[in-house]
Amino acid sequence: MKTIYFITGNKGKFFEVKEKLKNLDITVVQKNLGYPEVQGVSLKEVAGYGVDHIKKRFPHPFIIEDAGLFVDALEGFPGVYSKYVFFTIGCKGILKLLEDKKRRTAIFKSVYAYSESNKKPLFFIGECIGTIANKERGEGGFGYDPIFIPNVVTKTFAEMSTEEKNTFSHRGKALEEFIKFLKEK
Ligand code: IMP
Repeated sequence: MKTIYFITGNKGKFFEVKEKLKNLDITVVQKNLGYPEVQGVSLKEVAGYGVDHIKKRFPHPFIIEDAGLFVDALEGFPGVYSKYVFFTIGCKGILKLLEDKKRRTAIFKSVYAYSESNKKPLFFIGECIGTIANKERGEGGFGYDPIFIPNVVTKTFAEMSTEEKNTFSHRGKALEEFIKFLKEK
């Protein structure tokens, strides 16, 4: 059985990946190595820098992932700054910024980078279109989950099980692309 390391400190992300890859002949192991996340560039570039950094220190096949919430009425903010914004103003801060806004559409974007030995990294991208709720709802998930409602349903990500979130989420869609690649390998 092949082992792929998921380099992340985020248990929520790790559980999502584990759930999604459970039927493949692959063991996913979480490894919290830490790597610099360059600010102000695209998600793909952030992931690319991360791969270069980790590769020099870690000789096994691994994935990393970078995600962001892009709110239309805020010109795509917090976007590539989503992590910093979450730890500073959080969901409450985003709701406050949208207090007087009718337009509440937003997109969650995810980029996975897969790195294996001396090969160039491969990138897998997923997006989830939705809206920002009027208040925080739900106990599950992590990050902005309590305020994000994917299109087609009325629940926030935080009101869903991991399995249900995976069927709609940006990361779930990016993982589908990754799974396609693993199956064709
Ligand atoms: P990063 O990919 O870990 O840098 O994520 C950036 C920020 O977006 C972090 O604060 C995460 O908590 C948040 N985030 C990423 N993915 C999700 C998600 O699926 N739901 C809610 N928040 C997320």
